[in-house]
Amino acid sequence: MTDVAQPDLVRNSWMLNLIDEAKAGRLPTPTFASWLITRACNLKCYYCFASARKKDPDELTTGEAMRVIEDLADTGVFYLSYIGGEPLLRKDIYQLIDYSTDLGIYTGIHTNGMLVREDTVAKLKDVGCQILGVSIDSHDPIVHDRVRGVSGSLVGAKRAVLESVKAGIRCSIRIVVTEDSLPALPDLFNWARDTGVEELIIIPIFMVGRAAGTPDDRRADILGKELFWKGLDVLREVANPLGITVPEEKVACCVGIELNTPDKENHHAGHAFGFERSTGCRVGKFIMNIQPNGDIFSCPFVQHKIGSLRTQSVREIWAHPLLRAAREGDMGCHARSIIHTGRPDVVDPTYNRSTEDLLAELPAGAKPLSLTPIQN
Ligand SMILES: C[S@@+](CC[C@H](N)C(=O)[O-])C[C@H]1O[C@@H](n2cnc3c(N)ncnc32)[C@H](O)[C@@H]1O
Ligand code: SF4
Repeated sequence: MTDVAQPDLVRNSWMLNLIDEAKAGRLPTPTFASWLITRACNLKCYYCFASARKKDPDELTTGEAMRVIEDLADTGVFYLSYIGGEPLLRKDIYQLIDYSTDLGIYTGIHTNGMLVREDTVAKLKDVGCQILGVSIDSHDPIVHDRVRGVSGSLVGAKRAVLESVKAGIRCSIRIVVTEDSLPALPDLFNWARDTGVEELIIIPIFMVGRAAGTPDDRRADILGKELFWKGLDVLREVANPLGITVPEEKVACCVGIELNTPDKENHHAGHAFGFERSTGCRVGKFIMNIQPNGDIFSCPFVQHKIGSLRTQSVREIWAHPLLRAAREGDMGCHARSIIHTGRPDVVDPTYNRSTEDLLAELPAGAKPLSLTPIQN
């Protein structure tokens, strides 16, 4: 944690120490949970890793979900992000957010924005939601709506951002870097900043779920990684002159960019350093990935089950040998280990390798090796 300028106030904070401990794989419990609370969705993005569309028949009930929240709180998880599918399609979502914030967990929701209106944001604020994340793929409605499969979806996403900022809920924008979104990054960065958005989350495309099935998925994955780094470089050009840091990310997984510099009144040190600085592969170090039925996947992007909160506790699952191995070694990106070898327990073969070398070695038509498509 020495790569960014930090005011004295935060340089020695417990949060920084915690992040260092997590990165070193020394935490006895996870700090974050990302919960795919429903697979139901009102959009049909061509690349959706969750293949979201219909609700799973075995989704956790409200009571079961509340018991999971209790377990997370007892274990010391302090950040919970409800994703989906579209989390606002779950009727009890406000109740679940209310319960997690009541138990002291910093809670956010990640939405495509279609269902967000002034009253939605007011209700989210009322139940203590701290952050509202919205996905945007481009400023151009033709691009965004084509990616999302429903016309009017950019209007909904932008409305959600504006309502969130107006209501004073921290807002983040999530952008998956593709050939479509790359040209939009500088404009989205400037729009986000001018609008009062607090963070950008930049995500590489993973060729899984509905994104899988190109003629050559492993090649597409490697090119997607390259595109992601290019995206971060493009953003550095606009961010650096403003004193905004775009973190280095050698593994090529999600990166958070804090748009408020530490001198700004609304800069939130805990938020910025706690969440944005959790770079690298988070598997086994920071995060627990919960599925709609309580199954735990090692990584949100690949369907590799390592436990179930219907029958096990968070602590028990955190002791899984795969997560222990991820804590103990620097294995690159766990998702790419699976995508490129079919095995979750080996080092990511694309890690620290040049794109040229990787492409030269790949057989034509290389598919992801062991991903089971979700049936819906
Ligand atoms: C699955 S969505 C769930 C929340 C909400 N429905 C939304 O679209 O923001 C969570 C995030 O994952 C991103 N995403 C979906 N499929 C992806 C993929 N194949 N690779 C990388 N990110 C992906 C989405 O764009 C979104 O920002
Ligand atoms: S990425 Fe989000 S909005 Fe798009 S289909 Fe998946 S869950 Fe729905």
